[in-house]
Amino acid sequence: MKGIILAGGSGTRLHPITQAVSKQLLPVYDKPMIYYPLSVLMLAGIREIMVISTPTDLPHFRRLLGDGHQWGLDLAYAEQPSPNGLAEAFVIGADFVGDDDVALILGDNIFYGRGFSGLLQEQARNLDGCALFGYAVKDPERYGVGEVDGDGTLLSIEEKPAEPRSNLAITGLYLYDNQVVDIAAGLRPSTRGELEITEVNMEYVRQGRARLNELSRGFAWLDTGTHDSLLEAGQFVQVLEHRTGVRIACLEEVALRMGFITADECHRLGAKLAKSGYGDYVMDIALAAGASG
Ligand code: G1P
Repeated sequence: MKGIILAGGSGTRLHPITQAVSKQLLPVYDKPMIYYPLSVLMLAGIREIMVISTPTDLPHFRRLLGDGHQWGLDLAYAEQPSPNGLAEAFVIGADFVGDDDVALILGDNIFYGRGFSGLLQEQARNLDGCALFGYAVKDPERYGVGEVDGDGTLLSIEEKPAEPRSNLAITGLYLYDNQVVDIAAGLRPSTRGELEITEVNMEYVRQGRARLNELSRGFAWLDTGTHDSLLEAGQFVQVLEHRTGVRIACLEEVALRMGFITADECHRLGAKLAKSGYGDYVMDIALAAGASG
């Protein structure tokens, strides 16, 4: 399975913060926002990943993440010149996806919860059509909203409905079989001028091949769309990291645990960041895993 991180958009709801910096590069406590969705794809076992962003912002992502080899990844980059919708990712990324299945994650979505890696890998392995992830929220009208039958098959999805049929928001993480490339290629722009991800998902719903996995109560799916929610996401990460001593979405640690890099390679990455607590953490993890130091 390949992965795509969509990190475009103009971040207007966060102006003036995002006037000169891409939203997905803003800090969420101790690391850039894009680390969080990137770690999710890595936890799913995905190593070939394309980052899509605007022509202006793409060089900054490249500078931050490079070709990914330091984390045992193979990163590619592609431009989305204008905000033509989430589903355009599969038009832009068609050659990159090739004949594979593909996971799309939005560059501003933060997930945290126990057993997530196992759930993702299991869903990727048993994929038939598409697998989406639902999260109960108190303001479903702000999101895509799903309605499911008893065994998790999606019956309907509505984008930002005035009267939601459930409180299950569809999160910004989507696993698709290869058919998604053809479905996206056949889409027409909606009334708001975008290729809608909800239209893609509706096609799978019509085929009866769309699953919604409900993320349980102990799980966190965080929003970063407003000044308050961005700050709260950072505070959430800070509180957990302080309390437990474990960092969330530390790419070096994820790469080590997934077997993408060795303990010695991990230690070298930490040493390069030695002036920050983050670097110290990476070195400690590597030493505990047997790095020679
Ligand atoms: C998009 C999707 C929506 C989904 C949300 C998750 O909305 O269209 O279905 O629930 O991402 O973050 P947007 O953030 O573009 O308003």
